[in-house]
Amino acid sequence: MDKLAIQGGRRLEGEISISGAKNAALPILCAALLTEETLHLDNLPKLKDISTTLTLLGHIGTQICLDEQGSIDLLADRLSTLQAPYELVKTMRASILVLGPLLTRYGEAMVSLPGGCAIGSRPVDLHIKGLKAMGADITIERGYIHAKAGRLKGARIFMDSVTVTGTENLMMAATLAEGITVLENAAREPEVEDLANCLIAMGADIRGAGTDTVTIHGVSRLHGAAYSIMADRIETGTYLVAAAMTQGKITLHRTRPDTLDAVIEKLREAGAKISCSNNSITLSMDRRPLAVTIKTAPYPAFPTDMQAQFMAMNCIATGVGSVTETIFENRFMHVQEMQRLGANIEIEGNTALVRGVDKLDGATVMATDLRASASLVLAALVAQGETVIERIYHIDRGYECIEEKFNQLGAHVKRIQRTGSGS
Ligand code: UD1
Repeated sequence: MDKLAIQGGRRLEGEISISGAKNAALPILCAALLTEETLHLDNLPKLKDISTTLTLLGHIGTQICLDEQGSIDLLADRLSTLQAPYELVKTMRASILVLGPLLTRYGEAMVSLPGGCAIGSRPVDLHIKGLKAMGADITIERGYIHAKAGRLKGARIFMDSVTVTGTENLMMAATLAEGITVLENAAREPEVEDLANCLIAMGADIRGAGTDTVTIHGVSRLHGAAYSIMADRIETGTYLVAAAMTQGKITLHRTRPDTLDAVIEKLREAGAKISCSNNSITLSMDRRPLAVTIKTAPYPAFPTDMQAQFMAMNCIATGVGSVTETIFENRFMHVQEMQRLGANIEIEGNTALVRGVDKLDGATVMATDLRASASLVLAALVAQGETVIERIYHIDRGYECIEEKFNQLGAHVKRIQRTGSGS
């Protein structure tokens, strides 16, 4: 397995471009299953989760033509199977996003249950409940969700907690259902809206995406379309925090400042100066950050996917900051690793109290999940000496060319490639 070796202590300065959003690309790729015509996408990020999704779509029978510039054509005119096997689903929970499209277009789907994952149990009961409300007959057989239906029927579906992929799955299923579906307490994440915009370009009738009530008038078929995937707000936020921690000055291009209000506000509270244009953000920081208090919640509140990075910033900040996680029950696994670097963090329930220290010291640490890994990179950028981060395959799931981008900003990040099994 690859490792990253990072020499800390360098101030970040310069400009980079942000990639397409992983969490928008994943459902949008699955939307290709909704039509027998070609879906053309631009700004697809080069990430492990994207290649896993393409493997799954290819397994189902989708023809895929990908170029080096991040453009892709997907054609799902004749599928070979309606089954998403455990081997593919277990590596990436978002594989559940093929369930809605397969069921609504073909009347049947067999998708492996995703099972547990490092950051909590993450059930899919709301996806299943919503599809049942639309008339699907769903059974769980030997670890698989087996769903069958004639044409799905529009329904009013209230989701008792906010789920991003749940909203996306049901929205895709509803596009080809008979009649009107209303999704209440829907996720308002910008990625849900991006998916809706792609579906609308394919001929779907969707109103209210980006609000908590989404109304979908089912149509009899969707057609091909060309669509460009939105910029990744979590990648953007991660680089902004890195610049704040290293007291640097960076400009991020090809991004969407309008999707980052909660993150930008907290960075300003920490002392950063931030200016935005339509599609770029400049951050400069001329002091040690001030500790901030954050509490994660569904969009537009502070994103859980930025929690670990802000925890890293609090570790070296002036003062004491508390970090409360309300979305996932086990999302503090980075704490132990940060403590190995000298951080002062105390956990009580779902809150971590972080007392800023004057310095962190490089050490060997282990990446445990995607955003936790990113937070360790940030901590390593300010730690004295070298930090080695093991198991960085988690980072490659969600950050395109992370070492190239950081090095372009003046960091010293080296990938150590390991070949051979089990290493
Ligand atoms: C998505 C994002 C992930 C982000 C998360 C929360 C993608 C591919 N991933 O994950 O990066 O961290 O949103 O913003 O977009 N829940 C249920 N029942 C369900 C579904 C969810 O109880 O059927 C619970 C989960 O356990 C969790 C909460 O709802 O506590 C939010 O989960 P959800 O929004 O579904 O996360 P994902 O869509 O998997």
